[in-house]
Amino acid sequence: MEVVVIPNSPEMPRTEASDAVHSTISALIRRRRVAREFEPGSLPRSQLESLVEAGSYAPSGSNRRPVKFVVVESVARIRQLLAASPGVLGRPPVVIVLCLDWSKAPHLSQDGPGTSHSLYVDLGAAMANVLLVVEALELAACPVMSFHRRSVQMLLGLPAHWSPIVMVTVGRPAGRPTAGTGRKVLTEVAEPASWVEPDSELRRSEAATMAGSCDVSKVRQGLLELMTYLAAAAWGNVNEAPGYGPLRLLEGVQRVARLLSDLGIGEETLTAYDRRITQEGMKILADSDLAVALADQLLAELMSKIADATQA
Ligand SMILES: Cc1cc2nc3c(=O)[nH]c(=O)nc-3n(C[C@H](O)[C@H](O)[C@H](O)COP(=O)(O)O)c2cc1C
Repeated sequence: MEVVVIPNSPEMPRTEASDAVHSTISALIRRRRVAREFEPGSLPRSQLESLVEAGSYAPSGSNRRPVKFVVVESVARIRQLLAASPGVLGRPPVVIVLCLDWSKAPHLSQDGPGTSHSLYVDLGAAMANVLLVVEALELAACPVMSFHRRSVQMLLGLPAHWSPIVMVTVGRPAGRPTAGTGRKVLTEVAEPASWVEPDSELRRSEAATMAGSCDVSKVRQGLLELMTYLAAAAWGNVNEAPGYGPLRLLEGVQRVARLLSDLGIGEETLTAYDRRITQEGMKILADSDLAVALADQLLAELMSKIADATQA
């Protein structure tokens, strides 16, 4: 990249303090890398508040402040989010979902003179602030956009005018020692974040024993989550891998639907999708809009089943 330096005239005075701040920030910017492996275990609330605070201090076009932060600490809820998020690798203990609140800009549209670009720039600026403070706290994080937005919106019970745009997965980095961090007090955030609270002790022990359990309802839940993952991957894949990509993933959905049926815990609505994928396979191959529509409908169906299973 060519860099053109326009010298200050007259030369601005520099102080030792400003040099120190610059070198610290510059070191953080250069050191930051995404990390996708996390130590298990939640993070102190004060650290999470520092991340949200950093995001909320980012600049915002016309000072609209359209970015909303939803901090998810519940292991059970994160498990569900991951089912609809093929882009998340690893098992993050916290997910911060950055959403755009469209009620802050009702007159803006995707195209035309009043474009919505500014809102996305606001969100990117907020995300960059969050990632820098993650680095300063010696935590690990990865921004993720490969997820099914409507499923995430439904799982978190977000208002219809909030679109989840980026998830930032956060935790302690696996294999790297974490420096001690002083407590920070959140003095002022324009609008505080929403929180999906950590699980109760009971929930945590349930999650811990889930892997070893043969409880049929848990098997069903796991398989529904797998179907969701495959459907969300098909949905996200249509523009990336033309041809067989989405169809093969939907065929994976079919196989899980049949497995549920073989185990005697199948459901007519899912079997109907199994039949539909067989009938429409060739059309799906040629028509990515059809693949997206089918994956959207299937995901809405699966999300309500997963939500029901969690409440049960
Ligand atoms: C808008 C955006 C979306 C991203 N989506 C994903 C994603 O879905 N899954 C993932 O693992 N990484 C995702 N990343 C992380 C990039 O892969 C990563 O930033 C890039 O490889 C550069 O690595 P670095 O951040 O360590 O410099 C995303 C990054 C950005 C900025």
